[in-house]
Amino acid sequence: MTVRRALTEELPALSLLAQRSFMAAVAPLYSELGVRTFLEFASTEAMLKRVAQGAVTYGAYDARGGVGMAQVRGGSHVCMLFVAPEAQRQGVGRRLLAALLPECTAEVITVNASPNAEGAYLRFGFRRTAEEQTVDGIRFIPMARPREPVVLDPPFRGETTN
Ligand SMILES: CC(C)(COP(=O)(O)OP(=O)(O)OC[C@H]1O[C@@H](n2cnc3c(N)ncnc32)[C@H](O)[C@@H]1OP(=O)(O)O)[C@@H](O)C(=O)NCCC(=O)NCCS
Repeated sequence: MTVRRALTEELPALSLLAQRSFMAAVAPLYSELGVRTFLEFASTEAMLKRVAQGAVTYGAYDARGGVGMAQVRGGSHVCMLFVAPEAQRQGVGRRLLAALLPECTAEVITVNASPNAEGAYLRFGFRRTAEEQTVDGIRFIPMARPREPVVLDPPFRGETTN
């Protein structure tokens, strides 16, 4: 599998992939308004608009074609992390996130997790920063993590144990 920046001409297929993944996993938890709002947000036009505003898009590709995608906005906010249903739980989401982090400039990375995805984001090192919210029908849990993995300080040189 290859994870790399998506080409502009690949965005329509990635948009469809995200919509397919959303309809299977997230739409059942959303109201009609939420589904409509999301499908607009995930359209090729909306993705292109975010790219024009500086967002970076990554795609994950294997022999089947695109199997996952993710965007990062403003150097700090991950959105549109979607893996095709048949490719989930095989490390694709983790690899997409690992590819996005070096594109981030902020120390703290944020995401609005759909309720079904909170478990995955917890495994990716994100923690809740607020309770679940609903905006325009979109249900999400605000979460954040440091860009760099937390490393415990090494012991001081010359430190003694007694
Ligand atoms: C959520 C999603 C992006 C995760 O990507 P993925 O490729 O399936 O996840 P990975 O295989 O990289 O798994 C990473 C870890 O999260 C765990 N995980 C994945 N999905 C999970 C879930 N729904 N609940 C709990 N844990 C989950 C995996 O077990 C793995 O744990 P490990 O590190 O202990 O082995 C993907 O499942 C998806 O597209 N879901 C549907 C759409 C969606 O909800 N997108 C998020 C919108 S905010």
